[in-house]
Amino acid sequence: MKIIRAKDYNDMSRKAANIISAQVILKPDSVLGLATGSSPIGIYEQLIKWYNKGDVDFGECTTFNLDEYRGLTAYHDQSYHYFMHKNFFDAINVPESRINLPDGAQMDAERECERYDAAIQAAGGIDLQLLGMGLNGHIGFNEPDDYFSKGTHCVDLTESTIEANKRFFESADDVPRQAYTMGVQTIMLARRIVIVVSGENKADIVRQAFFGPVTPRVPASILQLHTDVSVVADEAALSKSMDLL
Ligand code: GLP
Repeated sequence: MKIIRAKDYNDMSRKAANIISAQVILKPDSVLGLATGSSPIGIYEQLIKWYNKGDVDFGECTTFNLDEYRGLTAYHDQSYHYFMHKNFFDAINVPESRINLPDGAQMDAERECERYDAAIQAAGGIDLQLLGMGLNGHIGFNEPDDYFSKGTHCVDLTESTIEANKRFFESADDVPRQAYTMGVQTIMLARRIVIVVSGENKADIVRQAFFGPVTPRVPASILQLHTDVSVVADEAALSKSMDLL
């Protein structure tokens, strides 16, 4: 596990965007696993700038997002589908036909999760998976649990995640209670993983996830066992791990 130290959010975003853009330059038909949340927004902004300058081209890429709220249609302004189009896809040239997210409007969970896993497999698996991390160590929507999840599945969101995500909705009551998410195994099967973490409020969980024991109580801790993970974290997020670096 490589820890890449960044000064602040912007520096973190540029460093992670560099890794992603190198991936796409080296393998133009890369399968990219993408994430939502506030952490990756700066990365998408940077990649859009480089795309506009002609430095990186997404025309042959395929994308798979980590997760989607169950019960929100693609057109809902809080759906991850909407988020990704607004913050990234609409500004670059990845073909619409190669953009994949779980379908939040499909209420048959089993069918949707099977479809999604089959689509990832048919694309040849994920070359590079971008991740953020929740305050409780969740990745995608894999919440702390007694075991690590496997493939794409439907989860009940924890109170802490509902609380953390309510800022994007009118009230906590409007936050969907369930989501479809790639499983921990799906994430671990990605050939390369980049996880970005910023801010002092993540300092405790950074120490636990990347320097503590591997446990499903801190889902991101499993990344310690992956052979190609880069943790791009800013000084604030690393502020409680300095003695371990
Ligand atoms: C959500 C997403 C995660 C994301 C997490 C952290 O719950 N499902 O994929 O990593 O939020 O969000 P933020 O980057 O805003 O802290």
